[in-house]
Amino acid sequence: MQEQEIIISTHLEDNLARAIGRCPHDKLFLLADRTTQEKCWPVVARIPEVAGAAHIVIGPTDEHKNLETLSAVWTELGRQGATRHSLLVNLGGGMVTDLGGFAAATFKRGIPYINIPTTLLSMVDAAVGGKTGINFNGLKNEIGAFCPAESVLISTEFLKTLDYENVCSGYAEMIKHGLISTPKHWRELLDFDLDHIDYRHLGDMVGQSVAVKEGIVAQDPHEQGIRKALNLGHTVGHAFESLALQEGRTILHGYAVAWGLVCELYLSHLREGFPKEKLRTTTYFVKQYYGTFAFDCKEYETLYQFMTHDKKNTAGQINFTLLGDVGEISIDQTASKEEIFDMLDFYREVMGC
Ligand code: GLY
Repeated sequence: MQEQEIIISTHLEDNLARAIGRCPHDKLFLLADRTTQEKCWPVVARIPEVAGAAHIVIGPTDEHKNLETLSAVWTELGRQGATRHSLLVNLGGGMVTDLGGFAAATFKRGIPYINIPTTLLSMVDAAVGGKTGINFNGLKNEIGAFCPAESVLISTEFLKTLDYENVCSGYAEMIKHGLISTPKHWRELLDFDLDHIDYRHLGDMVGQSVAVKEGIVAQDPHEQGIRKALNLGHTVGHAFESLALQEGRTILHGYAVAWGLVCELYLSHLREGFPKEKLRTTTYFVKQYYGTFAFDCKEYETLYQFMTHDKKNTAGQINFTLLGDVGEISIDQTASKEEIFDMLDFYREVMGC
């Protein structure tokens, strides 16, 4: 897989002009959703290189990350004269960068694209690493391709456009990156005050967080091994998201990941000796900023069934990424049903639900 240029941009205008200049093209397209078209487009509109771009605007939020929207993007590309030498700029959160990346990966067998992530979640995770795709048949990211952007331009200025919940949601992926990297980075993340955000400090930590992901993706772009470290917290997190969906409750992805981290660190403690004190500190942080996802023991079986259907499983076994300590990663770990139920008991007890 080709290397992706990732720039923590302090001068978005210059960086974008340069990134576009690196990709010779006959026509420039800009994909945004209705929210980023309104809130973020004015920031890039000043740049002469993009001022004349053809716009494609799609509906916001994950419910539009589907085949219908993808088809509408392909149609618009064709209708507005895109060729295989055209360039697409995706301006938005994970939904826009995932879907736009996949549209670019497939249109006329692939055109180059640039990501400008506008949410914290997309800056530190979705827009980086080359995973593109859409939801299909009720399954998240079921159809997609590994296809890295030419450049990812991360302007932390956009962080100021986000509400509190969206900052917390992206921050959960940063905590995950702290847990799989170094005690110093993990500690710095847990010492941060999300109630009184210091945007400069947050911007610095975004840079460190992206470097953690970049380092892992460079070793294993197609998730054959160590990239599975990035799934920490997600096996249980996805089960929480599926339960929430089934019950008509709305939760942001990062919140599910934060709650999933509490569960999977407990499993890490049980099976890999993850230190109790670090489990306690991380759990306290999650409880403080993310509250809790409430469920009762009658729902354990449903959650377990969701975990057995996780697309990362192999040979019918639930796959977890566990830790022996911060930065000590064990991929492809399993746990018995009893241990998983014990983990859910622990979660409900410490999170007070
Ligand atoms: N979001 C996990 C990954 O990119 O592998």
